[in-house]
Formats: sequence, C-alpha cells, structure tokens
Amino acid sequence: MKFILTTYIGCLLAFGAMAQIIPAPGSIQQGHGFFKLDGNTKLVAGDEASRRNLGLFSQLILERFKVKLSIIPKATGRYLEITQTEVNGPEGYSLEVNENRISIKGSSKGAFYALQSLLQMIDGNNGQIASCTITDKPGFGYRGVMIDAARHFITLPEMKKIINLMANYKLNRLQWHLTDDQGWRVEIKKYPKLTQIGAFRDSAIIGHYGDFKPLIYDGQRSGGFYTQADIKEIVAYAADRKITIIPEIELPGHSTAALAAYPELGCKDTIYNVPGYWGVHPNIYCPKEETFRFLEDVLTEVMALFPGEFIHIGGDEVPKDHWKVSPVAQALIKQHHLKDEHELQGYFVTRIEKFLNKHGRRLIGWDEILEGGVAPSATIMSWHGDRGGINGAKAGHDVIMTPNNYFYADRYQAKDKNTEPTALGGFISLEKVYGYNPRPDALTAQEQQHILGVQTNMWTEYVTSNNKLEYMLFPRMLAVAEIAWSNKEQKDYDDFSAKRLPVHLQELERRGVFFRIPEAKITFGTNPANGRRTAAIIPFVANSTVYYTIDNHKADQTGNVYNGAIDLPWAGNAPLQLNYIIVTPGGRASNMFTVDLPK
Ligand code: ACM
Repeated sequence: MKFILTTYIGCLLAFGAMAQIIPAPGSIQQGHGFFKLDGNTKLVAGDEASRRNLGLFSQLILERFKVKLSIIPKATGRYLEITQTEVNGPEGYSLEVNENRISIKGSSKGAFYALQSLLQMIDGNNGQIASCTITDKPGFGYRGVMIDAARHFITLPEMKKIINLMANYKLNRLQWHLTDDQGWRVEIKKYPKLTQIGAFRDSAIIGHYGDFKPLIYDGQRSGGFYTQADIKEIVAYAADRKITIIPEIELPGHSTAALAAYPELGCKDTIYNVPGYWGVHPNIYCPKEETFRFLEDVLTEVMALFPGEFIHIGGDEVPKDHWKVSPVAQALIKQHHLKDEHELQGYFVTRIEKFLNKHGRRLIGWDEILEGGVAPSATIMSWHGDRGGINGAKAGHDVIMTPNNYFYADRYQAKDKNTEPTALGGFISLEKVYGYNPRPDALTAQEQQHILGVQTNMWTEYVTSNNKLEYMLFPRMLAVAEIAWSNKEQKDYDDFSAKRLPVHLQELERRGVFFRIPEAKITFGTNPANGRRTAAIIPFVANSTVYYTIDNHKADQTGNVYNGAIDLPWAGNAPLQLNYIIVTPGGRASNMFTVDLPK
C-alpha cells in the first residue's frame, strides 16, 4: 500500500468514500482526519469468531493491496480492533474510526458487516479511511438471493464468487434452487439415479422459448451436480460469510428430472426424459405412500447437509392434469374428504411440512401453496407481485417478498429487447428495482411484522454463462441489498446510483464481475454564459469515459469524448438525440443509449 500524504483533498476523498457505502448505513457522523490502513496496522481480536472475521478481512486486503496484516490478541500501535458484544441487535454494529484506531463493536455477524462497510470505505482511496462513527443495523433479517442451479448448472467457484459478493452487500440468505424439471443437482446417497440420470439432459433449446416453432435443439448433452462434499464445502464457506443457504427441493411439481430417474413416483405408467425446454411441465409426483417415503428420505439427507432453519419445498406451478386422471390421487381426495386437486396439494404440502417441523425445520413455499390450504406456520414466498405476500401475511403467515415485477433478475434491463442478451421477458430497470416498497400499504403495521424480508430471484433458463449470470444480477442486486438493509427514509435513487454506485462498479470490474453497464444520469440545464441548453452525463461507473454524438448518428468510440456539460446546438424544432456509450476503466463498452434532446 502506498504512503499517502495527508492533504485537504485526501480528506475530502476519504469522506466521499465514507458516504459511498451500499447498503446505506443507519447513521454516519463525520470526524476529523483519517486512519491510514497500511502494513503497520495491527488487527486485534480477543476471541475466535473475531479472529475468523479478521482472517477473511486480511485475505481481502492482501488480494487488493498486496499487504499482509497480522492478527494479534492485544491492542498496540495503530490498530483495528473488534470487540464482540451485541450492539444494535443481532446483526448491528458500531464502527468508530479516528487517526489512531478503528474500533468495531458487534456480534460476530455485526462485526463482519462492519468490516464490509470498512472495505467499501477503502475502495478507491488507497487505504485511507475517513474518521467517523457509524451505527448500523438491518431493516430486515432475511436478505436473500436465489440462484437457480437446475436450469443451468452453476459451478462451485461461481457459487463462491456470488456468495462473496452477497456478503459484501450484507445479504444473508442464499436460496439454492437445486431441483427442477430440467435437472436434479444434489447428490442423494439413497437414490443415486437422481444424479446419474436426473442431472443430465441430452439437448436443450437454443434461443428464447418463444423464438422458434418447432423448437430448435443444440444437440449438446449437458448438466452436472453437487456431491455432498461439495455442498458441505459451500455451506461452510457461506456460513463463514454469515450467509445461510436454504436448499430448494421442488415438490409436487417441477419434478420431471426426478421422475426421469424414478418413474414409479409419477402417476403415469410411462418413461420420463429430462427435458431441454422451459415452461411449466405437467409431470408431477403422484401422492403415493412410496412418494412420501422417497421425499422424506431425500429431505432427511438434505437436512443433514443444510443446518439452517428453513427448507424451501417449491410448490409453484403445479398442473393437476395427472392427478385428475390418477386413481391414486382421486382415492386420496375421497379418503381425506378433500374438495379437489388443489386441496390435495394442500394435503401434500402439509404432510411434508409436518415432517420438516418434526425435525425442527420450517417450511418455505412459493405463494401457490396458499391455494390448497396450508398451516399458518408455513412461510410464504411471494412471487406473484405482492399478492402472495399480502394474502399470506393477512392469513398469519410469515412472508418473504420476491415480486416478479421488481425482483426477478431474469427480466430484461432495457425496454428495447434487441439491445440486450436473451432474457425471460419484461423490463425491470435498476431504478424500478430500487423503487420497490417491501411493506405494502395493503397491510396493517401488525401484518407487516410478518414480512421477514426480500429476495432477488435469478432463474437461469437463459443464463448459459457466468458472465450472463453476473450481467443479470448486477447492479440490480445492489438495489435489492439496499432495500433489504437500509431505512426507508434513507432511500434516494440519485444518491444510490449517481453518487455511491460508481465506485462500486469500478471495484466490481476490478474483481472481474461482469455487471451490466447502466444508463447514465442525464440532466439538462442552461449555460448562463451563452444562454444555451446544456446536457450533463453522469455515468454510474467511476473513471469511465463517455463518448457521445448529438447529430442523431451512432455513438461509439469515434464519438466526442465527454468532459463536462455539453452546450447543445440551437436546433429550433429539429428532433435531435443525444447518443452515448460508456467505456469502463477496464475497457468494456456499454450499449449505445439514446435520449431525446429538449427543443
Ligand atoms: C416461480 O417463478 N415459478 C416461483
């Protein structure tokens, strides 16, 4: 780390850095001067949890600055010290920085989050950390990301990369979508065919599901799965970073891959193949005793791998066609005096819930589980907008908000789909994500107590590379993190996007994260010197270069280099457009963006 002279500018830079934290902390008070983190800084911890936290911190400092910091038990010299004591709740912390020391107080989780804030304050500042006092705690206890590893297998290193990034932004729940029609991804010792057969498909469609009729297949066998050793490794890796993994084992629908391995668990006397196309599939588990035994066995192995309290059982999109014509299903409806197949699903899910509860676990299901009747102890994951969350909370369920119209990361990031890589559909801008209100007005204050938190869902039908996974998640995941953590009163999109995000995106690029380069903030004004209209372009990646045109022609790197507000031409009523691209410090070029110029 280079030695930096204390200058007025240096302090200003450092203070800017303090205010750049995402998600925004509860309160920051500015002090005087700054602490310089360098090779002489000692890391002080008196207990094992703090040592582990500092161990991870020092690894990151080593990666970033090539400086190895040592961890010692007693304070001396200039130091960073963690005192493990609960401050501001189970995940809250206080962080005090002055010229001689950094003092962190919090539980093991709280202290971990303090270190994430600290790392962000260092970004772009060569180790200078502005003197300040921060007190902080999360708005929600559940701050999640879902990764669908079933539609496309996500490798262990990529899972770890996402886990690290989640931790940096104080996200603490990773829902791992491990089974679906198109793949079964978790090794189950008692049922080896689940991965021998269910983890691979012979071919998958190219393009969007709606692109070609008939569908066109790539002819490539693909798939993969996690061994139980892999799972244990990831669970421990996540736990070190204060993230609990919630496994999702889909039932009774989205189960074709399992039925391909064990067709006797279906209602039809047929063979099933692991499909290579998307959409809702009719193949669902048959409610036989044999199926419940199988699911209980599977869940027993799953519970042994995942120690967290929640197990997600899916429960979404269950076509009842097979049950309608199944003597087994119809007999069960009669036997239990159920009204129809929906109530049969309620019976199915409730039976699984009782099994999980008996083993000390809690069930989460997608909001459709409300339709067939389910005990109030079940937690509802609202994906049909707010609807499931509102209905669930009113009926006394805990709920997690993952509205598909705000938090689905598989949606396009631009209105013009032709400018973006294939996505599922829709258009959810960064600003729209940021604008989500996780506490719907339709709920009373008391009902709102049931909202455990929020989650972004990364479905991967169209995610065929790690770059694309990151492109779809970032930067929108950062907006979700802020909604999950920060106070409603602090919400300010301009501050988030134009003031704080730029340093983050530069840092994410340095770390090899393939985020989407967002549209810049454009403001129009008037130049007092000549009365001409002006346009200012504020990109959301620090130290990027903007190239533009104002003659309605394409902007690329042959365009004008932006270096301050542009004086616009006197164009009368001519419809002129500002076209621009953003080129990051790492050399990635954005899409070309277009804004109509005021007449
Ligand atoms: C879902 O998007 N089917 C939960």
